Order: sequence, then structure tokens, then C-alpha cells
Amino acid sequence: MKNILVTGGAGFIGSNFVRMVLSEHKDYFIVNLDKLTYAGNLENLSDFLDRSSHQFIKGDICDGLTVEKIIDQYNIDAIINFAAESHVDRSITGPKIFIETNIKGTLTLLEAAHKKQIKRFVQISTDEVYGSLGPEGKFTEQMPLAPNSPYSVTKAAADLLVQSFSHTWGLKYNITRCSNNYGQYQFPEKMIPLMINNALNDKELPVYGDGLYIRDWLYVYDHCTAVWKVLTQAPPNEVYNIGGCNEKTNLEVINRILERLKKPKSLIKHVTDRPGHDRRYAIDADRIMKQLSWEPSVRFEDGLNKTIDWYLGNQDWLKNVVSGDYQKYYDSMYDNR
Ligand code: NAD
Ligand code: DAU
Repeated sequence: MKNILVTGGAGFIGSNFVRMVLSEHKDYFIVNLDKLTYAGNLENLSDFLDRSSHQFIKGDICDGLTVEKIIDQYNIDAIINFAAESHVDRSITGPKIFIETNIKGTLTLLEAAHKKQIKRFVQISTDEVYGSLGPEGKFTEQMPLAPNSPYSVTKAAADLLVQSFSHTWGLKYNITRCSNNYGQYQFPEKMIPLMINNALNDKELPVYGDGLYIRDWLYVYDHCTAVWKVLTQAPPNEVYNIGGCNEKTNLEVINRILERLKKPKSLIKHVTDRPGHDRRYAIDADRIMKQLSWEPSVRFEDGLNKTIDWYLGNQDWLKNVVSGDYQKYYDSMYDNR
């Protein structure tokens, strides 16, 4: 499998994935299909946009004809579907586009994959499809799906569609369910870059509720190496959880950011909680660790420092992404909250 169609490759994780493949696996060719929504950004690709082993195409995964044309033209062997509407808060205020891209878009890709007999379909899912945990236990691949937000419902629906194409048509697939990612090029609507950006500008840090919600953080590069192992080594039709055994409360993470940036804790402001906020996520990643010998390579403390330093060193990127519509989004989400 040498010719890969990556969707959503101008977003946070997709662009990190394409960069990793192009620099570490030079015999692969990547077609990168991305609609360039508010979250997609060609600047994320600036260091490899013109590489001969990479072809960027602006387009929508809901457009079946475009997808089929790409498969034919580039002799695509495998599809990795990163493209999605990915922000939980936006799915609460406007769920329709999540149904469109995350469900209908995945269905469109599956139809094309089936028609063109694609060798492997890798669906990038999320641990949020399992719902929320209490203080004990971890998500395993055997758990029933119990998504809570409009976002995670659309991701769970997409997972089930992928499995239905395998059951019905014999499509060979894998599904990965990763925990919260952090790292370079993450759009500052997500907690870590939002807090970094606000702290840099001496703005309040809006902590939802008591701030004791728990996420299992994984450095984005480690998510990318896990997806690569799944694509190249996994038996078909297996689901893999991916996570770093790295549970932190939101306040723990935010306090570390403030310390690194030498900003006062008085910037923290507790605000009205996210409706239906999942309390705790934690991943049991035993299967991928044992079957595919994957393990995370970056400790949280180091990854967070690297991430903060990246935002400090790329303030032009940050300024560009928070100009225009971002400010409107921010005001609508946080004003008088
Ligand atoms: P992101 O929002 O940064 O990027 C999404 C990309 O998809 C953008 O480039 C956007 O332009 C593109 N896109 C959106 N709709 C499209 C469409 N209809 N057609 C083509 N392209 C479209 O998201 P991310 O954080 O990089 O997440 C990537 C994937 O990983 C998503 O499927 C998400 O559900 C999953 N995931 C994310 C995390 C996380 O912590 N960020 C964790 C686990 C899983
Ligand atoms: O678990 C994987 C998921 O992680 C991915 O599937 C999603 O695409 C990704 O967005 C992420 O979802 P979360 O909702 O966990 O991430 P977010 O960064 O939005 O929030 C992380 C935590 O921080 C969560 O408990 C809510 C809280 N939070 C978030 C924001 C944006 C705040 O307290 N204040 C904020 O302003």
C-alpha cells in the first residue's frame, strides 16, 4: 500500500500525520483531500506543500465524484479518514454540519472505497464514543458505544457505518479511538491552545465548571505513529484504542501552562459549564501496545513544554488563525459566560 488518500490533512492531527509520513516513510505518496473549513489551514502544510510525494486537493468528503476521481487518478490503495467537524462545543451550538461531514462524509468515502475496492479503510475515531467514566476504570475496545455529545454521536455513527460496510461488503477496515491530543498546529478553540493564547495575551482563562474534569492527554506525534502502525501492520477489521496513560484534570494542565509562561493564577476564571460535559476519559491501550508494539514516546511534561514553546515561536501562525471569524466565535462562546 503505497498511495494513500488522507482526508482532513490540513487540520491539526492530519497535517502532523502527513508531515510524519513524508519525512519518515519516503516511498509513500499522499493525496491530501481537505475542504479547508475554519479548522483547515494551508499554513499547516507550508513545509511540505510542494513536495513531489504530496498532492493537496481542496474538496469535500461528501462529494463522491471527487473522491472516486482521486482514487482512479492516483491509484489509491488505502484511505485514512481524519476529516471531521471535531469540536464538542460547536456540536452543541450547531450539530447539523457534524451530521453532514462526520456521518454523510464518511458514508460517501465508504461507498467510493467499496466501489473501487480500496485495500484498507482507516477511520480515525475518538474515545468519546464510549461516553464518560466515573472515578475508576478505563475504556476498552469491548465496551459498548455510549456517546453523549452531538459530536461523539456522529463519530459513533460513522464507526458503525464503517463496520456495516465490512459486514455487508467485506470492506477491510480499522478504527482507531484516541484520547485527547495536544501539540503543534492545534486550533485555539481546543483547551490547551486556547489557554496558551489567552495567557500570552493576559486574557482570562475560561475553565468550565469546577475544572476537575479529566482527560487522558497524548502528544500528537504519538497518535500519528499509532495510526501508522495500524495502517501498515494491523490485521483487518480490528479496533484499536490509543492513549498515553496520562490522566490530568483540566486545572492541572492549565496551571502547568501558567507556570511555563510565568503568568499569574489569577487569570483563571471559572465559567458556566459545558452542557452534558463528560467527566472523565481514560484509555486502556493494551491491545495496540501488545499487538503492534506501539508505545507513546513523549512524556506529558516534555510534550506540553514543546507545545507551549511551539506557540511562542509561531506567533504569526497564531495571530493569523485568531483573526477574523475566530473572534466572533470566541465572543459568542465566552461573552458573559
Ligand atoms: P481539526 O478540526 O483540526 O481538523 C479537521 C480537518 O478536516 C480540517 O482540516 C478541515 O478543513 C477538514 N474537514 C472538515 N470537514 C471536511 C469535509 N467535509 N471534507 C474534507 N475535509 C474536511 O481536527 P483534529 O483535531 O485534527 O481531528 C482529526 C480527527 O481526529 C477527527 O476525525 C477527530 O474526530 C479525531 N480525533 C481528534 C482528537 C483530538 O484530540 N483532537 C482525538 C481523537 C480523535
Ligand atoms: O477525547 C478525544 C476528543 O478530545 C476528540 O475526539 C475531540 O475532537 C477533541 O476536541 C477533544 O474533545 P474535548 O471536549 O475533550 O476537548 P476540548 O479541548 O474541547 O476540552 C478539553 C477539556 O477542557 C474539557 O473537559 C472541556 C474543558 N474546557 C475546554 C475549553 C475549550 C474548558 O474548561 N474551557 C475551555 O474553554
